[in-house]
Amino acid sequence: MKRNAESGAAARVATLLDDATVRIAATLGLEKREARLEARVLATHAWNVAPAWLIAHDTDTPDPSARTRFETLLARRLAGEPVAYLSGRREFYGRTFEVGPAVLIPRPETERLVELTLERLPPGAPLSVLDLGTGSGCIAITLALERPLARVTAVDRSSAALAVARRNADILNATVEFLDSDWFAALAGRRFDLIVANPPYVASGDPHLNQGDLRFEPASALAAGSDGLADLRTLAAAAPAHLLPGGWLLLEHGWNQAGAVRSLLHAAGFADPATWRDLAGQPRISGGMLSENFTPDSGGSQPISGKSA
Ligand SMILES: C[S@@+](CC[C@H](N)C(=O)[O-])C[C@H]1O[C@@H](n2cnc3c(N)ncnc32)[C@H](O)[C@@H]1O
Repeated sequence: MKRNAESGAAARVATLLDDATVRIAATLGLEKREARLEARVLATHAWNVAPAWLIAHDTDTPDPSARTRFETLLARRLAGEPVAYLSGRREFYGRTFEVGPAVLIPRPETERLVELTLERLPPGAPLSVLDLGTGSGCIAITLALERPLARVTAVDRSSAALAVARRNADILNATVEFLDSDWFAALAGRRFDLIVANPPYVASGDPHLNQGDLRFEPASALAAGSDGLADLRTLAAAAPAHLLPGGWLLLEHGWNQAGAVRSLLHAAGFADPATWRDLAGQPRISGGMLSENFTPDSGGSQPISGKSA
């Protein structure tokens, strides 16, 4: 690209970004601030430049091929494709993860799940952790990097997702054991100090599946039966057989599923399940500790006394 004075204001970087911002905001119904951020992400990706370059070079005129690359990405965004899939990356817990259509785009509420997990993993203890449904690997890799002494295992049923997770672990230099597994199927006889999961929890008929980013994300990462609880049911019931005494299970779920998930945890033998709110104030994570003297038939009849924090 060359610094320009003569070839027309319409082609300058600043003008292209302004135009794209207006079109993204109008077409996708985004706030102008968010639309501008997206326009900048698309431009940095199209031109392979750092964000600061866009400011320093705002009067440059992109050459025709650079402009075409930007406009192609913009057209795909205007058609609804998630900006994270177009740029191929998403920030999570301060690190950049590669993402693509094989994996769920990591969400900010899942960072809260990671925080709650880290609170239960003292830095000096070599505890074992299992991440169920790892997708991009964002939870498992973050835990492995934040707690280098922990032994982190991660499973997914999607081999395409596992390929993305393994690549992220390589790029970020994290040690994680990845397994191709239908939930606990490949983990017979293994027990962990903590199990964490952000499983599919959207009801299969939920109209949100046909809106926004969700239209482009793998259905196998989102939908879980007619009430959205199918996988949460499976995980709550099966987790005790894979937890050490006193071990924790932490589950992300939908904003209206906290009571149901606490019931499932009680029924499975977790003594006093609790629910935590995400950064937006929604009750989105529930979990419990397996009692030290848990036996398979000691759960089931306890009253629901869960609390929200
Ligand atoms: C909601 S996504 C979560 C991805 C990632 N952990 C995150 O938080 O961004 C759920 C993940 O569970 C995986 N999954 C769905 N059913 C599964 C099953 N039966 N066994 C293992 N993984 C499964 C999906 O492939 C998907 O990667």
